[in-house]
Amino acid sequence: MSEHPSWWRDAVIYQVYVRSFADADGDGMGDIAGIREKLPYLRDLGVDAIWVNPWYVSPQADAGYDVEDYRAVDPRFGTLAEAEKLVVDAHSHGIRVVPDLVPNHTSDRHAWFRAALAAGPGSPERQRYVFRSGRGPDGDEPPTNWRSMFGGGAWTRVTEDDGAPGEWYLHLFAPEQPDLNWAHPEVAGEFEAVLRFWFDRGVDGFRIDVAHGLVKDPAYPDVADVDDPTDAAYAPGTHPFWDRDDVHDIYRSWRRVADSYPGDRTFVAEAWTSAPDRMARYVRPDGLHTAFNFDFLRAEWDAAALRRVIDRTTASLQRVGAPATWVLSNHDVVRHVSRYGRTSSVGGENIVHPPDGAVDLVLGRGRARAALLLEAALPGGFYVYQGEELGLGEVEDLPDDALQDPTWERSGRTDRGRDGCRVPLPWSGVSPPFGFGPEGTTPWLPQPPEWVAFTVQRQTGDPDSMLELYRATLALRRRLPALGEGVMAWVDAPEGVLALRREPGFVCVTNLSDAAHPLPAHDEVLLASGPLEGGSLPPDTAVWLGLCRR
Ligand code: GLC
Repeated sequence: MSEHPSWWRDAVIYQVYVRSFADADGDGMGDIAGIREKLPYLRDLGVDAIWVNPWYVSPQADAGYDVEDYRAVDPRFGTLAEAEKLVVDAHSHGIRVVPDLVPNHTSDRHAWFRAALAAGPGSPERQRYVFRSGRGPDGDEPPTNWRSMFGGGAWTRVTEDDGAPGEWYLHLFAPEQPDLNWAHPEVAGEFEAVLRFWFDRGVDGFRIDVAHGLVKDPAYPDVADVDDPTDAAYAPGTHPFWDRDDVHDIYRSWRRVADSYPGDRTFVAEAWTSAPDRMARYVRPDGLHTAFNFDFLRAEWDAAALRRVIDRTTASLQRVGAPATWVLSNHDVVRHVSRYGRTSSVGGENIVHPPDGAVDLVLGRGRARAALLLEAALPGGFYVYQGEELGLGEVEDLPDDALQDPTWERSGRTDRGRDGCRVPLPWSGVSPPFGFGPEGTTPWLPQPPEWVAFTVQRQTGDPDSMLELYRATLALRRRLPALGEGVMAWVDAPEGVLALRREPGFVCVTNLSDAAHPLPAHDEVLLASGPLEGGSLPPDTAVWLGLCRR
């Protein structure tokens, strides 16, 4: 493993959605043993680290984001000893390990929440969560008008020991995910202890789930518009629960914990903020290290939109001395091959809901290839969501009875939720389970038969495959001194074309226009996302050029 002091400043981090990565024991769900078996694959792909979605003991009401015990591994995924072995094995392959931490809420099966229910109104046990009396003469109206991110209200009323309807508790997500009260010192103390528990086991950092949601307005006011789940309409820092300024006090103390460990431990924030300068507040030198750049993910396949996001991101992060982390897909959004495969409106709401109408996956894959070269050329690091290196699209036709995302039921079966980007990976063979598990395994979500063309086995060695493009891109990015952290400059280019230069001697040109674009002067074509036609760059194609003498 490289001993570069700040590996995370330009790392390529691969997101392992553990349920769907590789299933060693054949129960239909991925596991830690499966990840360990595939470490050579990840090493050969050329990633620096893996972020692993929650592996803790959990009733799985929200795919592991409802944690019952932060210090134990769910038996579906393995054991604590296996997680420890994964860290050791990954390190021996030069790969760092970043687990997911879920501090905004616990499971309703967590010992603290059970104790809170048992102890009753007014008890110290209830203070660790957000219990309130209801409004209205009988207290049968929720304390605020807040909505759950998965649909329905954000408050659930409990039945007290005497059988009477009692207090309400807050859950910004599913009712099985009660929000913690971060104003309570025991909550802060517990999470610092959990950080230490895993740092002591050698993990290299944490991805912080819902990092922008921990602190609530103590007055618990109604939100201005119940239909708007964002803070876009509020003055910065004033929304009742998103991105409040005090949340950074928590991260300042976490940073002290991370810095007290040897090596270079890092945090990445999942913070959906309204503007790049708000995102930058999470990554100050005394706060978290990096944050996912969701503005890049949200941007449409449009040169001006992407350029605007790139400029605003780099400018706001430079001010706080933090590197950018670019991201195109994750387990919560429509896979970008499918977003880019729709000619209209691939940004905005469509990151979570595929619009109606036909999707052109060939177009989407071509654009995704170009997007990879653009992303990997930008200063900073970037994330790869498992399966994007295979060119997988969103599975939009999962049968209703297969859907497991709580969004599906909570929305009264109107919102199909996020399962379409979570379908288990195809590794090999000609029919499901495509090597995801041993022969005979029934994956927890059904794999489309057409994935026969997208297995790792099928793509390996095919120079035109998405997988070989990812391997080549990551290998070259490691080798080229111009890439990774640093600065970039735009080079003049016609509308619809993005040309950026990095030193020494590197240019990336991405053609998002409808017309072929002549390649600028260069000494060498280092890599192209598709065939170059007679010295020009076709639409939806990107190229890396080397300039040794210019
Ligand atoms: C984050 C996770 C998402 C989860 C939610 C609640 O947004 O990425 O998968 O449902 O938090 O924990």
